[in-house]
Amino acid sequence: MSLPNELGFGGVRALHGRLRLPGDKSISHRALLFAALATGRSALTNLATGDDVLATRAALDALGVGIRTGAEAVTVSGTGLGGWREPEMVLDCGNSGTTMRVLSGALAGRPFLSVLTGDSSLRQRPMRRVSEPLRAMGARVDGRADGAFAPLVIRGGDLHGLRHELPVASAQVKSALMLAGLQAEGTTEIVSPAISRDHSERMLAALGVPVEVEGCTVRVQVGAPEPFQLDVPGDPSSAAFFVVAALITPGSDLTIESLSLNPTRLGFVDVLRRMGADIDIEPSGERCGEPVGELRVRAGSLVATMIEGDEIPNVQDEIPALAVAAAFADGVTEVRDAAELALKESNRIGALHQELSELGLAVETRADGLVIRGGQPRAALLKSHGDHRMAMALAVAANAIDGQSTVRGWQAVSSSYPEFADDLARLTSAS
Ligand code: S3P
Repeated sequence: MSLPNELGFGGVRALHGRLRLPGDKSISHRALLFAALATGRSALTNLATGDDVLATRAALDALGVGIRTGAEAVTVSGTGLGGWREPEMVLDCGNSGTTMRVLSGALAGRPFLSVLTGDSSLRQRPMRRVSEPLRAMGARVDGRADGAFAPLVIRGGDLHGLRHELPVASAQVKSALMLAGLQAEGTTEIVSPAISRDHSERMLAALGVPVEVEGCTVRVQVGAPEPFQLDVPGDPSSAAFFVVAALITPGSDLTIESLSLNPTRLGFVDVLRRMGADIDIEPSGERCGEPVGELRVRAGSLVATMIEGDEIPNVQDEIPALAVAAAFADGVTEVRDAAELALKESNRIGALHQELSELGLAVETRADGLVIRGGQPRAALLKSHGDHRMAMALAVAANAIDGQSTVRGWQAVSSSYPEFADDLARLTSAS
């Protein structure tokens, strides 16, 4: 899909109707990877449509995994990890940290050479958090600055399980070590400092892999998932933009259907409810261990809040959307304990400071967060900083402001949600 460089907004437009979002990005990466670990045919529908998940798919293709797009579903003909072949080319992970980190864990156990690289943003993101523990498990892992940055070079080896205490709560690193652990002798135990998203634990357990979870500790042993069918539930991180859009745009009433209701992904709903938001959630079932249901949100006034501590790992992708909610709320919102925000697709602390200031708000930065004084944001020329979530957060702000605003660098949304502008236009078309 070719996307414009700029997206223009012409004033306040309420959101109405029902929305089914593209499949959750985290679940989509894992669905492809786990199907590639299985022996047999898996069928996946509603996979995320963005470039990040396409990067995982292309990497698996280069590793010899048969993946086909059919009329109904994407089918993966898994031959187990033993069927993966040394890739002839460098694996390009694009902008996708999940592809690079989680795939590294699987490749750490493969007896061949793999080289992983990515775009300029990904090449600046920290990789020691995966290279170090994978080395400790027995793989040869190298990279720029002694394994701190991509390109990463992995020659997988005979792995042995270990107990690893993660210095920061990261679902990508935890998942990488779980995939290495499925190929390692003995038990691999991963201890996180706080709960992070738990898709790997839920999905692998649902696919027949014994995964032990005890608080912040996860244990795995040698194993492989069974092939499966999955209709990927909608992405809560994408939902967050529409939820905030509906809350801050007067007259809105929006229902999001077939949404992942994984509790580790709904921290943003708790934050918004604390801010006074009117959000109803109706669970309807489970797919591959992942709860699914419907969410309804209506516009309303918001008050400031504090976002900090153990809440952060489960709202970090939603901070750009929550920062926009804070911009429209009454009072001063603070985000603390979120130093990881500076290490995402952009430095989100700096980027939010700059763009919320453009909207005329008083914003202060800290090393680990932001202080945002809510007010009356004004129309502005805004920039995505090459970050899909910044682009979408700024778009929902622009949609709720009188006057002409522009989001420049719109193409960044292709990482996760190329259809975002079309979906927003459809939901606001009645206004
Ligand atoms: C992801 C985990 C999160 C999140 C990222 C996707 C995943 O990162 O920010 O967008 O799919 O596992 P962490 O590894 O920092 O938790």
